[in-house]
Amino acid sequence: MNMSGTTRGNSERALTDSGEAVTVHGNSEISLTGDCSAVTVLGISGSPHRHGNTETLLEAFLDGARDAGAEVEKVVIKTLIYRSCQGCNACHKDGECILTDDFNTLLERILTVDVLALASPIYSMGITADLKSLIDRAQPYWARKFVLKTLYFDYDHIQSHKGLFISTAGQSWDHVFDGAFPVVNAFFSDMGFEYYDNVIANKMDEYGGIKGHPSALDDAFAKGQKVVRVVEKIRNR
Ligand SMILES: Cc1cc2nc3c(=O)[nH]c(=O)nc-3n(C[C@H](O)[C@H](O)[C@H](O)COP(=O)(O)O)c2cc1C
Repeated sequence: MNMSGTTRGNSERALTDSGEAVTVHGNSEISLTGDCSAVTVLGISGSPHRHGNTETLLEAFLDGARDAGAEVEKVVIKTLIYRSCQGCNACHKDGECILTDDFNTLLERILTVDVLALASPIYSMGITADLKSLIDRAQPYWARKFVLKTLYFDYDHIQSHKGLFISTAGQSWDHVFDGAFPVVNAFFSDMGFEYYDNVIANKMDEYGGIKGHPSALDDAFAKGQKVVRVVEKIRNR
């Protein structure tokens, strides 16, 4: 096994070529301990309103994750070129989508990250059309899992891959996010993520926007920090 890394004394952690971490004592490798590269966090904004309440809340979360040492990336669906699912069911036959656009790349990217933050404001008691389009385009992954049975995420994978839903809503109604949760849950499940937490703030009308909220941005930052530490802890078990 080829390794890279700096030797300090007889005991060290070193990286294999594939990025796995092994603990080595002297010349003998004694245990595989998982990947010691930075936790990767992908935030996807499904708000068509650039730099509005939802994208700002997502950014606070990503800032927290970055502060905790994660590699962070933000994608704004509005800036992508894509079409919605055509419902042709071709993916049920071979697990592939007939469409080729930015969503194919984004969906493949999702499978490579440790933490996925899906952000959408509440529109008409649910998520936006932008985010729903992405979720519908994940049907090939659903087909691979449940029709073709070529895709499987084991327990350890799901435990170490965390999904969070980030949302804002105008109304003060406590249940205003309820329509969104099952959709987001289905997507996290299809893509191999544990639905870990929500970062949600209602009453945007009352507060005059997210910047007027007394705690939401600080809470989002703290949750960004926390999820990175949780994933690191799981990796080091
Ligand atoms: C088309 C549309 C539909 C909306 N529907 C709801 C709704 O059903 N319930 C609610 O509480 N707020 C609703 N809102 C308000 C937004 O959820 C709220 O203003 C949110 O913070 C906007 O986030 P943004 O700045 O990222 O767009 C709606 C806003 C728009 C534009």
